[in-house]
Formats: sequence, structure tokens, C-alpha cells
Amino acid sequence: MGLLDGRAAVVTGAARGIGLEIARVLAAEGARVVLGDLNAEALHKAADDLTASGADVRRASCDVTDADRVDALVRTCKDEFGAVDIMVNNAGITRDATLRRMTERDFDTVVDVHLKGTWLGLRAASLVMREQGSGAIVNISSLSGKVGNPGQTNYSAAKAGIVGMTKAAAKELGHLGIRVNAVQPGLIRTPMTEAMRADIWAAKEREVPLQRAGTAAEVANGVLFLASDLASYVTGAVLEVSGGRGM
Ligand code: NAI
Repeated sequence: MGLLDGRAAVVTGAARGIGLEIARVLAAEGARVVLGDLNAEALHKAADDLTASGADVRRASCDVTDADRVDALVRTCKDEFGAVDIMVNNAGITRDATLRRMTERDFDTVVDVHLKGTWLGLRAASLVMREQGSGAIVNISSLSGKVGNPGQTNYSAAKAGIVGMTKAAAKELGHLGIRVNAVQPGLIRTPMTEAMRADIWAAKEREVPLQRAGTAAEVANGVLFLASDLASYVTGAVLEVSGGRGM
């Protein structure tokens, strides 16, 4: 018996990193999962690997900034699995630079992927979920959205915006049986953070009360909790998975 037996889920940005781990953990608990990502090649491999491990998954190439593609991604889940019980808006990018160097394009691109991308996923999933009278949506914010990081005025703003969006949607959709929550990961080792200089990485790790970076699996476990019935009375919440950093 898995926590998500019989459920159908969509995960964006699922080709690698935290999104792939979320897909793996949801599938391990019995969910059937549609993986969406911009990177078709990595997506193909991720879906094949999960299928080989016994998971029931589908994949759909999807740019989360494109409303038609996001609608199609959610429709794939409904068509293939008959429902959309869980939506995880995870896809993300960084374009870090100080205000002196950050271009308008860096700002727009980051806000588009995180804020508009999450909103499009939220909208598409909630339209199916309101017909069902149930559903759980989990948006991936970041600790950057809570504390702000230098060099990330674009990213911190977008990730803080996801918190406001999550709470507004939780209030709007609660009476329809739909829960909406956010996760704020701290320092997590993934392809996104691999490029960080070793000394900067070590300094950041020392700021963490648990004295280490987190794993994608630890973030995925937080998502699992919020997506499952264990969190049946939790909505509009922001779960920090940060080892205590920035509390
Ligand atoms: P990653 O770079 O390893 O994976 C991100 C995935 O999203 C990639 O597969 C990429 O192709 C996909 N993607 C990017 N733009 C997309 C678009 N427009 N449409 C569809 N897919 C797109 O990053 P990671 O670390 O796994 O991050 C996942 C989420 O977690 C992001 O929202 C990120 O901001 C957030 N996060 C990560 C932290 C970390 O320390 N790694 C900390 C806090 C939050």
C-alpha cells in the first residue's frame, strides 16, 4: 500500500534534479506520473529510467511559459490516467547577476518561468480538479523567496511571488476540495547548483544548522507529504526544507 495508490500526478521540470526525484518518490508511493520538461532528450531518458524501475509514467515535452503546452501537459494526465490528483509546479531556472549586470531579459526570463509558469500550471490543474472536487497542488518556491539572495533579485522576487500566489489560490480553491501549498528548499545539490564555486558552497553549508546541503530526495519527501492525505488539513502553507537555514 502506497500513500498515493491510484492517484495521477503531473510534475514540471521533471527531467532531472529535484523534479525527477519528486516524480520518482510519487511513483514509488503508487502514483502514475506525467513528466513535463523543456529538455526533450533528458525527459526521454528520465521517463525510460522510471519505467524500467516499474513506474507507470508518461512524458510530455513542455515549456511552462507556454499556456497551450501547459494545458496539453495537464490534459495528457487526464486523458491517460483519468484524473489529475496532484500537480507539482517545479520547473525553474536561474540567471544570477548583480543589479549592475543583470539584464532586463534576465529578469523577464526568470519571472516568466517561475511566476507565470507556476500560474499556468496552477490554472490548468485547478480547472480539472474543481470538476473532480479534489486535488493537491504543490508549488516549488525557494528559501531565496523568503530571505532574498544577493545576485538573485529576479529569482528571489519570483520565488516570493509564488508564496503569494499559493496563498491566494489556497483561499480561492479550498471550498472546492483543492489544497495548494508551497515548498521552500534551501541549499540542495542538483545540476542547478553544481556550478557553484567549492568555497562558496562550503561557506553556505556552514550556515545550515544541520551543517550540510540537502538532497533532492529530502525535498521530494516534503512534496510527498503535502500531496498526500497526510496533509489533508494543510493548505496555504509554506514548508521549508532547508536544514533550518534562514529560519
Ligand atoms: P535543475 O536545473 O536541476 O532542473 C530544472 C528542470 O526544469 C530542468 O530539467 C529544466 O530543463 C527544467 N526547465 C527549465 N525551464 C523550463 C521551462 N521553461 N519549462 C519546462 N521545464 C523547464 O534545477 P533543480 O535544482 O532541480 O530545481 C528545481 C526547482 O527547485 C526549481 O524551481 C528551483 O528554483 C527550485 N529550487 C532549487 C534549489 C536548489 O538548491 N537546487 C533551492 C531552492 C529551490
